[in-house]
Amino acid sequence: MQIDPNARIVVLTGAGISKESGLDTFRDADGIWAKVSLEDVATPEGFARDPALVQDFYNDRRRGLLDPAVRPNAAHAALARLEHEWPGEVLVVTQNIDDLHERAGGRAVLHMHGELLKSRCVRCDTVAHCRQDLSADLSCAACGRPGGLRPHVVWFGEMPLEMERIFAALAGCGLFVSVGTSGTVYPAAGFVMEARGAGVPTVELNLEPSDGASLFDRAIHGPASEIVPAFVDDLLVGNR
Ligand code: APR
Repeated sequence: MQIDPNARIVVLTGAGISKESGLDTFRDADGIWAKVSLEDVATPEGFARDPALVQDFYNDRRRGLLDPAVRPNAAHAALARLEHEWPGEVLVVTQNIDDLHERAGGRAVLHMHGELLKSRCVRCDTVAHCRQDLSADLSCAACGRPGGLRPHVVWFGEMPLEMERIFAALAGCGLFVSVGTSGTVYPAAGFVMEARGAGVPTVELNLEPSDGASLFDRAIHGPASEIVPAFVDDLLVGNR
């Protein structure tokens, strides 16, 4: 695939890129939303109704992410390699709240749905690193007040993070790549239309055609740990 070697590449990732690292996706048959109701654990209303249930849900996922068996896979590593070896800028916009892109060496990573290893105080808005269980009796280290710490995760009905930076990056990029996402949740699912509207080539790398597959100029289907490294090799070799 030939693109201007100085072009910015924007890569959107979803839960599918972390599946082979042992983290569940959301909408696969064995996904998270097949086991728990998103209304109960991923909405402000659910948190207001039963904060302990929501804290337990994210505490379980945080402990799972911190399991030594959970490591970045070849797809995360390939995107980090692209960032370091591509002459132009590479920006990873991830819907994922895990830290596998960073642990693979990614530096330009925007978490539009927040981060599981961070907490936010609803009283003073301080965001802090968090590798422990959260509960109502914990106090915020910044303001000292108890009962206000929540996961720094964007719930349904809340505004995703970094949207201005993301749309600015999409407008000026030379290639948009989507990896491991079902293309069902906006605004991320609409990024391909933003790219197309700006005349930017678009590629989908996914296990199977996503809901938005027909919107992409090109699609490559298969496990991310296989198709992403191959795609990155093609980009880097093809643009030497
Ligand atoms: N390699 C590549 N793709 C895969 C793999 C794999 N090994 N396994 C699954 N996939 C694909 C699935 O086919 C599916 O299209 O990854 C996609 C995962 O889709 P979802 O489970 O819907 O996850 P995602 O698209 O990231 O969800 C978006 O929804 O619930 C919210 O906040 C949550 O960020 C999440 C958002």
